[in-house]
Amino acid sequence: MTTRAVVIGVGHYLPERVVPNSEFEESLDTSDEWIRSRSGIERRHFAAEDETTSDLAAYAAKAALEHAGLEPDDIDAIVVATSTPDLTFPSVATMVQSKIGMTQGFGFDVQAVCAGFIYALTNANALVVSGQARRVLVIGAETFSRIMDWTDRSTCVLFGDGAGALILEAQVGNNTNEDRGVLSADLNSDGRYRDMLYVDGGVSTTGDSGKLRMQGNALFRQAVEKLTSTAHTALSKIDLDDNAVDWIVPHQANIRIIQGTARKMGVPMDRVIVTVQDHGNTSAASIPLAMSVGVTEGKIKQGDLLVAEAIGGGLAWGSVVLRW
Ligand code: UT7
Repeated sequence: MTTRAVVIGVGHYLPERVVPNSEFEESLDTSDEWIRSRSGIERRHFAAEDETTSDLAAYAAKAALEHAGLEPDDIDAIVVATSTPDLTFPSVATMVQSKIGMTQGFGFDVQAVCAGFIYALTNANALVVSGQARRVLVIGAETFSRIMDWTDRSTCVLFGDGAGALILEAQVGNNTNEDRGVLSADLNSDGRYRDMLYVDGGVSTTGDSGKLRMQGNALFRQAVEKLTSTAHTALSKIDLDDNAVDWIVPHQANIRIIQGTARKMGVPMDRVIVTVQDHGNTSAASIPLAMSVGVTEGKIKQGDLLVAEAIGGGLAWGSVVLRW
């Protein structure tokens, strides 16, 4: 017998405003054709001016609570993955706590950029299996539109805003790979690559929040290899291989990275959850958003084995294997 952190609820929120690629053609030397063919992105959502990351996160949290049939005070802890917090502090997690009306427990943020949800899920799993919390709300939420340089066509067409949330609950498992819940995880970072993707401002440097800078091509070359390798490491920790995978739920940065990783893993594209065309790159929100969409579309079902994998600024990358 063992304690497993099992997903009992999922939900997401996307801001109302949908921006098609064609909108960028008005202000930049770019085209719908370039954006689609190089990234797979067709549209993305941008938050309204008065809408913050904690608003998006709270909407996603409420959707997940409703899906699980729970009240806010049934939750013991909130872990939010974000690189675009409302304020430098307090954490987005504590803001969500008050916005959903949760009057007890604790919350904190995790910052690992596009790999943030993988890090948050791994930490939330540790809280559950160590007995620190029985139910944890794990959220990925971002407003990357706030850190775009709108004159830089190589970045501003790629990102979007949104939030996704899971609820994990402690349940007893048989200590086999047939158990529901988080089965394995693998986390990595390598700060030598930090210039590949960063924001050029911050509290202890410029004093403002800065704009996103990316060497897209260099990062692209790292992505497929590192994503495949982390997925294989997480699977091999529990003596599974690619054949066991029902769904890859990848970070949604670029369809060519998603396809390249699936090909290397020998998993057909109809076993991959793809939302990049509709959401763009929502950083830490992309995986829980994809999970929620995958469930809503009737693809991900109870008992399916999922591998979620992501890479981003740091570089930080990793994967989680979980049985839904
Ligand atoms: O979420 C974190 C992880 N992020 C990623 O994994 C992103 C990884 N990188 C990528 O997804 C891709 O590298 C991009 C989509 C960012 C770029 O695609 P690419 O095929 O690597 O293009 P490139 O950067 O090599 O640029 C090719 C050309 C360049 O022109 P020259 O130098 O060949 O004349 C760019 O200036 O495309 C040009 N370009 C554009 N053209 C039209 C760059 N952005 C645009 C644009 N519209 N928006």
